[in-house]
Amino acid sequence: MGTFLGVLGALVVIALVFFFIANTVGVEEGEAGRNPRLDAKVKENIKPVGAVDVGEVAAASGAAPAAARSGEQVYSAVCMACHGTGAAGAPKVGDKAAWGPRKDKGIDTLLDHAIHGFNAMPPKGTCMDCSDDELKAAIEHMLGQTGL
Ligand code: HEC
Repeated sequence: MGTFLGVLGALVVIALVFFFIANTVGVEEGEAGRNPRLDAKVKENIKPVGAVDVGEVAAASGAAPAAARSGEQVYSAVCMACHGTGAAGAPKVGDKAAWGPRKDKGIDTLLDHAIHGFNAMPPKGTCMDCSDDELKAAIEHMLGQTGL
C-alpha cells in the first residue's frame, strides 16, 4: 500500500510537470499566430500533402505516408525477410542463377506474380499497402543488387 501511494504521488508530480511544459509550449504557439512570417510557415508545414509540390518535399521530410517508397526501402522493410535469406525457397538477392531465368520472364510477369502471389511467394510479398509502382521498384532493386 505504501508503494502504491508512492507511485501515485510520483505520477501526480509527473503530470504536473507535463502540464507545466504544455503551458510553456502553448505560449510559443500563440506567438506564431501573431508573427505573420511564422504563421505562414506553420500553414505551409501543415498544408495537406496533395497541395504541396509532392515528390521533393515529401521525400525530403520523409514524413508523408502517401509518398512512394523507394525500391530499396520496400525491399529492406518487407522483401528482405525472404529474399535476403532465401527463406521459403525465395530467390536470394545476389543469386544470379536463381534470378536470371526469372528476369527472362519480363518485368511485367514478375510484377504480376509479385502483386498476386506465385507459389510460396505471398501476394504483394505481404506488403499490403504497397502500390504496384513500389513493388516494381522493389523488384528492380533486387535485380539491380543481383547484377542483372
Ligand atoms: C514470405 C516470404 C517472401 C516475402 C516476404 C517476399 N517474397 Fe517474393 N518470393 C518468395 C518465394 C518463396 C518466391 C519463389 C516462388 C517460386 O518461384 O515458386 C518468390 C518469388 C518472387 C519473385 C519471382 C516471381 C517469378 O515469377 O519468378 C518476385 C518478382 C518476388 N518474389 C518479389 C517480391 C517482392 C517485390 C517482395 C517484397 C515486396 C517479396 N517478393 C517478398 C517469398 C517471399
